[in-house]
Amino acid sequence: MSTYDKHLSRAGLALRESAIRRAGDRGMRLPDAISFAPGYPDPEGFAWEELREIARDVLSGSDPAVLQYGPTRGYPPFLAALPEVLAERGITAADADSIVTTGSQQGLDLCARVFIDPGDVVLVELPTYTGAITAFGNAQGRLAGVEQDEQGISIDDLDATLRRERQANRRVAFVYVVPNFQNPTGMLMTRQRRAELLEWATRRDVLIVEDDPYGALYFEDVSTAAETRPIKADDAKGRVVYLSSFSKTIAPGFRVAWITAPAPIVAKLEIAKQSADLCSGVLDQRMVFEILRRRVLDASLPRLRAMYQEKRTAVERALRREAGDLVRWTTPSGGFFLWATFHDRIDTGVFLDRAVAHGVIFVPGSPFYVEPRGRNYARLSFATPSVAGIETGVRRLATALREEIAATAPSERRVAG
Ligand SMILES: Cc1ncc(COP(=O)(O)O)c(C=O)c1O
Repeated sequence: MSTYDKHLSRAGLALRESAIRRAGDRGMRLPDAISFAPGYPDPEGFAWEELREIARDVLSGSDPAVLQYGPTRGYPPFLAALPEVLAERGITAADADSIVTTGSQQGLDLCARVFIDPGDVVLVELPTYTGAITAFGNAQGRLAGVEQDEQGISIDDLDATLRRERQANRRVAFVYVVPNFQNPTGMLMTRQRRAELLEWATRRDVLIVEDDPYGALYFEDVSTAAETRPIKADDAKGRVVYLSSFSKTIAPGFRVAWITAPAPIVAKLEIAKQSADLCSGVLDQRMVFEILRRRVLDASLPRLRAMYQEKRTAVERALRREAGDLVRWTTPSGGFFLWATFHDRIDTGVFLDRAVAHGVIFVPGSPFYVEPRGRNYARLSFATPSVAGIETGVRRLATALREEIAATAPSERRVAG
């Protein structure tokens, strides 16, 4: 509540901040803590040398448009370079099928503006990315959770949820999925489940919003590029709105991402973007374009895959050694995240305070759910800390966890034991 509440719109009053941002801010305020909280890439993986050179060339002054406004759709040479990026993922698209966005986060917000009326339903995975929950929720969408099994989103539950919502006369705007190394679970949806989802969406006339920032970061010891083939690659009938980003593979400071979708949808997104920011940063797009043109990713992607794979191995090794009896998880086969399951008695939202006191931070599970559950889960992002930091962080986490288990033990057991 503030004295300004009476000046706010109903939508303004209902705005909710992102739980991840909150956890990230907490990490910033504790400089000695090891943070497994934010999904930030490791700056060691940024192509500093090449970026320095590109910055000098781009800012040489030979082209004054570098610091000018640009078209809302995006810097045309960058848009013209996207079909090749997409083709490498199996997606056939023309320049006109894409629009640049200021991070995929803006892509999600634009989707919310274009597809969601207040009260419309968005079908999301249980759990799902909190930034999507915030974007869709702040557009006053109703988020309906759909179960996942070991293959990905459950088609049976999806269908049951759709029927229930439609029977209640609610409009279903779209289904939102993160098939590649999902945030927060790290899960890779199987090829078969992707095909089933696309078939279901076509049959039930539902749009799919596919969010794919992590697909290029598969770990070669357990997965392959073929397994990350986007649903969009098989979208012959224009069902899929595909979002991707260079935040995790080049650097999030550029805020360069894009949406590839059927032309009439891209046209609407463009109008929504005009009122959001006129255009994404032109300098950012020029620099990312140069990275693509100079084929910097050809060398850096294999390096990034190896680096994050090593960190994934380090976090698993440390967890097995320090807390193998206290934590369960499935091995992530790419991306940034390990989804940890603790003892039923642990409420990770409460446990976080003890962890912080021990100098380690994570994101509790509940904010990733659109219904009240996830109490004993936590998302550990292994992308940012060094291997040594991971070791220390997991040791601190295990110490805090043992204390928490002892402190929450039923009292008669504590007396008896
Ligand atoms: C699933 C997912 N979608 C979108 C985003 C936003 O990325 P960007 O930096 O491109 O805005 C993230 C960032 O963590 C993410 O994990």
